[in-house]
Amino acid sequence: MEQYLPHYTSGNSSLCSPLSFPSVDLPNIEVLALTAIPRENYTYIPSTAPPPFSTPITGLNFCNVTVSYTHPGWNDTIVTSIYLPAKNWNGRYQAHGGGGWVTGGSGTLFTGFMSALADGFAVSTTDGGHISDFAALAGPTMPWALTSPGNVNWPLLVDFAYVALHDTALLSKSAIHDFYADPLKYSYWFGGSQGGRQGHMFAQRYPEDFDGIVALFPAVCYIQLFALIAWPMFVMDKEGVYPPPCEIEAITAAAMGACDTLDGVEDGMISRPDLCTFDAHSVVGQAIDCEGVPSTISKGAAVITQASWDGPRSSTGEFLWYGYQRGSNISVLGAPAGTICTADNSTGTNTCDANTSLQVWFNYWVQKYPDETIRNITHEQWDDLVYASAQEYESVIGTCNPDLSRFKRAGGKMIVWHGLADNLVTANGTADYYDRVTARDPDVHEYYRVFLAPGIGHDAGAAIRVPDMNKYIIDWVEKGVAPEVLRETGMDVKGNPVERDICAYPKVQHYIGGNSTKAEAFKCV
Ligand SMILES: *[C@@H]1O[C@H](CO)[C@@H](O)[C@H](O)[C@H]1NC(C)=O
Ligand SMILES: *[C@@H]1O[C@H](CO)[C@@H](O)[C@H](O)[C@H]1NC(C)=O
Ligand SMILES: *[C@@H]1O[C@H](CO)[C@@H](O)[C@H](O)[C@H]1NC(C)=O
Ligand SMILES: *[C@@H]1O[C@H](CO)[C@@H](O)[C@H](O)[C@H]1NC(C)=O
Ligand SMILES: *[C@@H]1O[C@H](CO)[C@@H](O)[C@H](O)[C@H]1NC(C)=O
Ligand SMILES: *[C@@H]1O[C@H](CO)[C@@H](O)[C@H](O)[C@H]1NC(C)=O
Ligand SMILES: *[C@@H]1O[C@H](CO)[C@@H](O)[C@H](O)[C@H]1NC(C)=O
Repeated sequence: MEQYLPHYTSGNSSLCSPLSFPSVDLPNIEVLALTAIPRENYTYIPSTAPPPFSTPITGLNFCNVTVSYTHPGWNDTIVTSIYLPAKNWNGRYQAHGGGGWVTGGSGTLFTGFMSALADGFAVSTTDGGHISDFAALAGPTMPWALTSPGNVNWPLLVDFAYVALHDTALLSKSAIHDFYADPLKYSYWFGGSQGGRQGHMFAQRYPEDFDGIVALFPAVCYIQLFALIAWPMFVMDKEGVYPPPCEIEAITAAAMGACDTLDGVEDGMISRPDLCTFDAHSVVGQAIDCEGVPSTISKGAAVITQASWDGPRSSTGEFLWYGYQRGSNISVLGAPAGTICTADNSTGTNTCDANTSLQVWFNYWVQKYPDETIRNITHEQWDDLVYASAQEYESVIGTCNPDLSRFKRAGGKMIVWHGLADNLVTANGTADYYDRVTARDPDVHEYYRVFLAPGIGHDAGAAIRVPDMNKYIIDWVEKGVAPEVLRETGMDVKGNPVERDICAYPKVQHYIGGNSTKAEAFKCV
């Protein structure tokens, strides 16, 4: 990325020692240790990151400041990392968020932390007091949720939800003040999924912390979102059906066939899911190929798929939350309707079951006794779990408050990019949040813009790349140029290079003619 400001010369690596950071402290914390280690000509090799973040970054020169601290009486130990460019500081600070059950820390590095450092940002991230290993926290057990059966580890939950995040913003700004002769010009947040929720939490609760917030596929309205994530398994248990992924994939493909062209062009994605009313039951009985085995689409698979699209309801039929958009890959490994199947070759049977890893919110934080199953509960018991979840946690981590007036007054700007085919965090929740912000303030576009991207799932490793979010947020914050569209580039489903200009919600993309791999073939209506 280009440098937007002249390079600062004041980052002096011989100042990279703990003695140089006297103001890195806060009234509500006790610093346990502070290390500051100069790194010169450092090469960062991402280990597990997907493209485009997997390319090694060479020639990094920075001061690696690590602060370990506790909130006295809370028995938490938080490790916050602050990397300060020694030679090419661009006058900006960018904090990076986490994902899944990771607050941030080492698990976040792939999301662009080191590339932002290379671009000259001072960067920070925090582990929030618990492990940062995505994979270790993706399973059915949650090592940091409880202090003992029945007892939530409240300090770690609020650290994850907001406390350690706000601490990190303040500690990092102090470190920047101590290290550079020149003042900090602009502060930014960058995060996706959990990190997108965290970005919204700052706008709602700490509106002064950042001038600009990038929130990708944000898990806003967290409490309601978990009712959706848990819903397909609840319906499977209720119906006693656990369809193999191939059946739901076939229904998804049929929905794609019915709705792909609603925007005027066939391009392997549903760009107008709002117009798509395809009924999963309409293909029951259709012959399909299930990984080489001839099969048919069952009624059970249609029930589970339709329920995932419609979203959770109470026992009396009350709306609880939105569902997934048709065309989302809801049955892939790790997605909410993705079952785990075991084939028995001797009997020729294939036995499937739901994936309980997606139930940890209800198992651990809501129910608090993870050994007690939430399988095959009644619909009334389901209602009780959803109710308890909201009662206990909405103000803690819900991140659903549409009052962004303080953020607006502070002059903040926030950009959201969210895939319409998101198969974990539904984009419907993001659209709803935007609508509720708009209902309070019709001038929402002055500080908050949402871009819903057709055909994109819940990851940054898709063939179509995440737009250059830092460029957009910097232009908006520093030059007053608000993004009208976000340019995406990458490959389409056929492997051809493709570009798209993603429209600012509530506008949607419509094909007007010409080569559909070119942005000019579409307009926002
Ligand atoms: C860096 O800081 C040290 C310690 O304050 C000082 O002696 C040295 O002259 C500085 N170097 C530059 C290039 O400013
Ligand atoms: C930086 O490290 C690379 C190897 O990673 C080496 O080729 C290069 O010479 C080093 N540059 C300096 C200035 O030390
Ligand atoms: C920064 O310092 C911490 C604490 O010593 C260490 O764990 C970490 O690996 C260092 N990071 C780099 C990139 O050197
Ligand atoms: C503090 O936390 C540690 C684990 O992080 C635990 O082993 C210890 O028992 C806790 N102490 C108290 C007083 O709760
Ligand atoms: C739930 O009940 C169904 C029968 O409706 C049964 O097939 C299934 O094995 C049960 N699941 C669990 C985890 O107990
Ligand atoms: C279950 O879901 C989790 C979380 O999405 C995922 O990481 C894991 O791979 C899935 N497990 C299996 C066996 O499919
Ligand atoms: C969904 O799965 C299909 C078939 O495997 C694949 O072509 C498509 O890229 C996937 N879509 C997303 C958004 O991941």
